[in-house]
Amino acid sequence: MNISPQIIEDIKARNDIERVVSSYITLKRAGSNFNGSCPFHSEKTPSFTVFPSTQSFYCFGCGAGGDAITFVMRMENLDYVSAIRALAERSGVTIPENVTYNNGKKEVTRSRVLEMNKEAARFFRNALFDPKYGSEAMDYLTKKRNLSTAVIKHFGLGFAPNSFGALHDHLKRLGYTDDEMVTGFLCGKGKNGSAYDYFRNRIMFPIIDVSGNVVAFGGRVMDNSEPKYLNTSDTPAFKKSKNLFALNFAKNHCDANMILCEGYMDVISLHAAGFQNAVATLGTAITSEQARIFSRYTKKVVISYDSDQAGQRAADKAFNLLQEVGVDVKILKMEGAKDPDEFIKKFGADKFAAIIEGSKTRFEFETDKTLSKYNISNVDEKIKASRELCRVIASFSSDIERELYSRKLSTILDIPLVSIQKEVASILRKKTNELKSKEQSELYRITSGLGDRVNPEGASNIRANKIEEAILGILLLKGDLVSFTKDKLTADDFVTPFSKSIYESIVSVYSEYGRLDISYIQENFTIEQFSRITKMMTERERLSKNDAEALNSLIESLKKEKTKKDDVDDSFDNIFDLIKNKKRN
Ligand code: UTP
Ligand code: MN
Repeated sequence: MNISPQIIEDIKARNDIERVVSSYITLKRAGSNFNGSCPFHSEKTPSFTVFPSTQSFYCFGCGAGGDAITFVMRMENLDYVSAIRALAERSGVTIPENVTYNNGKKEVTRSRVLEMNKEAARFFRNALFDPKYGSEAMDYLTKKRNLSTAVIKHFGLGFAPNSFGALHDHLKRLGYTDDEMVTGFLCGKGKNGSAYDYFRNRIMFPIIDVSGNVVAFGGRVMDNSEPKYLNTSDTPAFKKSKNLFALNFAKNHCDANMILCEGYMDVISLHAAGFQNAVATLGTAITSEQARIFSRYTKKVVISYDSDQAGQRAADKAFNLLQEVGVDVKILKMEGAKDPDEFIKKFGADKFAAIIEGSKTRFEFETDKTLSKYNISNVDEKIKASRELCRVIASFSSDIERELYSRKLSTILDIPLVSIQKEVASILRKKTNELKSKEQSELYRITSGLGDRVNPEGASNIRANKIEEAILGILLLKGDLVSFTKDKLTADDFVTPFSKSIYESIVSVYSEYGRLDISYIQENFTIEQFSRITKMMTERERLSKNDAEALNSLIESLKKEKTKKDDVDDSFDNIFDLIKNKKRN
């Protein structure tokens, strides 16, 4: 361990788990614990629990667990050391520079990646404005896409030269290592281990966060080759699902509303035409995290996706997610153009402002779509239309909305209100049941150990595994008992390798520091393994009468299990011996 327990303890003491978690999700008190909707999987019934007594969290739905540090690792997609730094920063603790992890390999930090990205952005911009490299790209942007130099500069656009090493060599001269370039997703790694430029012969779009950091890039080809765009994957400085393109500008123009587009080019065209409240997701469908970003910045979002089928389907999903976070959502009806970029070029900014003004609510949008699809003077088609629209109504989470839209639909289709209400209620019931059984089967999968990657041996040694988890759970809660078990229980008494490795870790930390806390052993395990370790601890929460006594009998039972298992293994050996001997005879 390279970060001392003192630092970890200090940080944990200043970052109460309940406060850390509530800065991301809403928690409700439940006895001495807190419950909330799990931020790591999608659920309707909250199974995410925070345990103040052990400063840990565990989700009984998806099995994610850990302490405040793990929580930040997962939420912010940070490595262990960066999460500690983030928590330290929040609470004014200083961590010495040059902390290493992963057996001495130097960490690639967020700030280092950001610095490197800034250099890369500068490099790409210089290449674009240098006729020796960038004349074709400049022609493409100004002539084919009608962008002014001012707009190109405003967005910091650039050009990645058609070379496997131009950026690499440049960054190397500035002191960045191959490892940093690969981790930062500016370079790929070849078969022979050498780093090569990932973006080549592409127009470069820097993705800039609200603090002005260049966090990632998108790179577009200048012809029809595939893939059209390459994007930075997740790095220590960036998570796609949590950023929006042009939010750095839009954040200052979003009081009334924001416009959500699909493409970088749509956003750039809109900004150039005066709609500086436009943003786009980064090559993926909108996520719930991005929906939450919108809710932080604005009250209303106008979805302005491409008019093709794919765009309209994506709009549906965006509608649901944005509605869930409580922003007012409208959808743009765009005719005569495939996307906002083309619309502005064909019809101008005023026309676009007019269709923004006339954008529709979800219900209006779906009603229009359905009514244009079916001829409701035909009974069968009217039934189909009413079914579809009842499903839309059922997807609204508020009772009031469902009631008001049901009334509207009753008028539009001339069907008695009660019939609509009944249909909506039955759809809702079905949905709830489906959800419940889905959550239950997920829970079953996790708790039954089927396909268990963390502890694959657990499923075939159920009893032993239960005993091991109980022992480890007690030790994790009552670290001082390690001095009591040390002489009675050795790592070799454990049946499953996973439990054995935890016990080894516990004993070694305890002998080094004379104390134990789950946070001390965290570094030795993956985030999934650590979730399981947290679970062992939370399940022991209620047991506490006489821990030493309980431990004693558990240790005895474990040894019995172990002997049984060894006997079985021996008898297999015997059988093999017999078979072998037979063959020999
Ligand atoms: P579009 O194909 O609509 O691209 O994809 P665009 O930005 O409007 O570009 P032009 O107008 O054709 O030049 C929408 C978004 O989907 C992602 C990009 O974020 C793009 O802006 N995308 C698309 C990719 O990530 N990879 C691809 O290969 C294609
Ligand atoms: Mn486009």
